[in-house]
Amino acid sequence: MDRRHFMKHGMAMGTAALATGGGTLAAARATAQTPLDQSFPKDFLWGTATAAYQIEGAVNEDGRGQTNWDVFSHTPGKVANGDTGDVACDSYHRYKEDIGLMRNLGIKAYRMSIAWSRIFPEGRGKPNPKGIDYYNRVIDALLEAGIQPNVTMFHWDLPQALPGGWQNRDTAKAFADYAGFMAGKLSDRVHRFMTVNELRCFTDLGHMVGIHAPGLKLAPALVNQVRHHGVLAHGLGVQAIRANAKAGTEVGIADNANIYVPAIETPEHIEAAKKAFRDDNAMFLTAVMEGRYIDSYLASAGANAPKVQAGDMAAIGSPLDFVALNIYTPTFVKADASDPRGYTPLPHLPQSPRMASPWLYVGPEAAYWGVRAVSELWKPKAIYISENGTSADDTLNKSGLVDDSDRIMYLRNYLGQFRRAAAEGYPLKGYFLWSLMDNFEWADGYGKRFGIHHVDFATQKRTPKLSALWYKELIRRNALV
Ligand code: NOJ
Repeated sequence: MDRRHFMKHGMAMGTAALATGGGTLAAARATAQTPLDQSFPKDFLWGTATAAYQIEGAVNEDGRGQTNWDVFSHTPGKVANGDTGDVACDSYHRYKEDIGLMRNLGIKAYRMSIAWSRIFPEGRGKPNPKGIDYYNRVIDALLEAGIQPNVTMFHWDLPQALPGGWQNRDTAKAFADYAGFMAGKLSDRVHRFMTVNELRCFTDLGHMVGIHAPGLKLAPALVNQVRHHGVLAHGLGVQAIRANAKAGTEVGIADNANIYVPAIETPEHIEAAKKAFRDDNAMFLTAVMEGRYIDSYLASAGANAPKVQAGDMAAIGSPLDFVALNIYTPTFVKADASDPRGYTPLPHLPQSPRMASPWLYVGPEAAYWGVRAVSELWKPKAIYISENGTSADDTLNKSGLVDDSDRIMYLRNYLGQFRRAAAEGYPLKGYFLWSLMDNFEWADGYGKRFGIHHVDFATQKRTPKLSALWYKELIRRNALV
């Protein structure tokens, strides 16, 4: 910072002090405020995340059954560039190399998902020993590397053989049977399970918007029923995991609740953000945390409200050991007495800042307000960030490296807000960066890169990006860099 800057911005030291030289500067420094503490809580769990269909490939190996995403990605026009997950990062064969990347980062935990159709190729029935063996190998290799596996049971790859998919209530039961079975196999070594990933995505994007598998645009009543089956699967899954896992196993959900950021940090706008959060997530996280559909949702759904059977809501509201949040993007909101809800969400504008994916508006405050809303509304025992990260327009430099300073900018800002939440005492215990490496980004195929390791999909070579070096340093210091 030069002298002109000080004068222009009128910072703490006057120009006279600057002019008089070293002694005065030293005195000024001595009276200055202590530098901002950038550290995270002791024992904060640093990790990275991936998901089975996005990295494994090997879709026809060792008895894996077909999934909705195999069908969808092979349907012309559904995925950018005609990409599929057939090979992806080939992690089915290269998981040891991937664990080497993690070890080099110094992470303590890895969030991975299990491909349901490797375990039950038909979605239910007879288990496939080769599928179980594969996850045993991965988990043992992680533990050997000193990395704690955190396992998601369902990250969108639904066995195609299940009739009607998520439109059929029986799928929720089939999920619970599979989740309970796997918890029984793994809970001697895996201590934290997440039932399903991102309720809103596999229900709405797949069945209302139609841009994810199975690519449907159903009527509102059917969409609400699919949503109900999604939360029911979670709830029955929690019960089944608890019934089959070793005592002390933690169970929670990885959800992408829509996050509301108060436009101005004053009590009225903060209250508006909290209310908007609870309302907008009524059919997902709010139902899971409260074990009921709140009145405003039932009123707005009217005749399209889901059909609920006895016992469903109690299962959906099964107590959790933690809530995990996937946090990427905010919705700003203001208090508004003229709106019957008492608030108005503020739309993103075409010129609002965003990252390389069109939906990924930048708003680091989402990190803080997401954690705070969940804490204040439902007081969970622990909160994890099961995903946070960004796509970026990564290009290789002359040396074949990716200098992704935009990703570092994004992560640094979001992590600053997570740090604030932890420093204020909200129970934030860990963070899984999405993603360990570039992978199959669903309908965007391989065109959108979210990794902190670059993957050359022609050769499968993995190369750390600058952001990987940055994250490694952050973990080493346990403080924002
Ligand atoms: C959330 C999803 O869980 C993950 O699969 C996806 O790749 C990232 N967001 C980025 O879009």
